[in-house]
Amino acid sequence: MTAFTNKGCPPNVAGMTIAFFGAGKMASALIQGLLRSGICQPGDITAASPDPSHLKALQDSTGIHVTASNSEAARAADAAILCVKPKEAAAALAQASPELDGKLLLSIAAGLRLSTLKKSAPASRIVRAMPNTPALVGKSATAYAAAPEATALDIAMVERIFSSIGEVHAVEENLIDAVTAVSGSGPAYIFLVIEAMTEGGIRCGLPASLAQRLAIQTVAGAGELCLQTGEDPATLREMVTSPGGTTAAALATLEKHGVRSAFIEAIQAAERRAVELSGE
Ligand SMILES: NC(=O)c1ccc[n+]([C@@H]2O[C@H](COP(=O)([O-])OP(=O)(O)OC[C@H]3O[C@@H](n4cnc5c(N)ncnc54)[C@H](OP(=O)(O)O)[C@@H]3O)[C@@H](O)[C@H]2O)c1
Repeated sequence: MTAFTNKGCPPNVAGMTIAFFGAGKMASALIQGLLRSGICQPGDITAASPDPSHLKALQDSTGIHVTASNSEAARAADAAILCVKPKEAAAALAQASPELDGKLLLSIAAGLRLSTLKKSAPASRIVRAMPNTPALVGKSATAYAAAPEATALDIAMVERIFSSIGEVHAVEENLIDAVTAVSGSGPAYIFLVIEAMTEGGIRCGLPASLAQRLAIQTVAGAGELCLQTGEDPATLREMVTSPGGTTAAALATLEKHGVRSAFIEAIQAAERRAVELSGE
């Protein structure tokens, strides 16, 4: 598994033209990341989607080309990114597939396996990825798996695209369901933690808005501390836990209620569900 940042990226992926199938939340996040990081200029990108009002809004805010036709978008592009809901993927690819021959097709559709995508776009070089919603603020945790036909340039391009919205890791495809369980669905677990910390603060007398703000900043700050120090989370936890102190009292209560094992089992349940949804 490799972690990737912009540093050290091969320079030869810039200037490629990209088609987006779908103009929703994830497509917008990726387009904004590509433009913000300078990997693409607005004229390099064409987004296709059935709803003209969504396309208009995206065009007005970014200056990219838009079209109602996936096929037209694909024809003008060196590579395509599939950003539609999984149930819409077959229809989107059926329209565009002839224009994707010999091109990179990057899919972020949850649960769609490389082998399934290959049936819809047999002559494409396919890569499958799982970003998460912090992509909307440039903080995604993304992992991807590439089909054997993907070239070194395809991989460089995929890594550059996802590094524009956060951090990216290469994995074997059999780990994508586990990635979905940890980071794809993970933001929801942390939102639950924020909700619970807020409720606890309110019960202890804090105004709701202050309790929520403190909880959010604490989660963001704790994550940043892990990232910036590179310390193991267990070490950082022990550093703030004095014997007999307030943190020790809280952690003992969390362990008594099985919070650690609940998180572990939750992630295993999400992984099982991801396997079921992708039809295996
Ligand atoms: N959100 C997440 O946390 C997350 C994380 C990882 C992966 N993903 C994956 O990312 C994909 C997109 O998710 P999203 O949250 O961005 O969904 P979304 O906001 O609902 O966007 C879906 C887009 O697809 C368009 N669309 C529908 N049918 C189409 C077709 N035949 N051709 C072209 N475009 C079509 C929709 O257009 P209309 O609005 O006109 O219907 C909409 O613009 C999904 O497959 C999801 O599994 C999402």
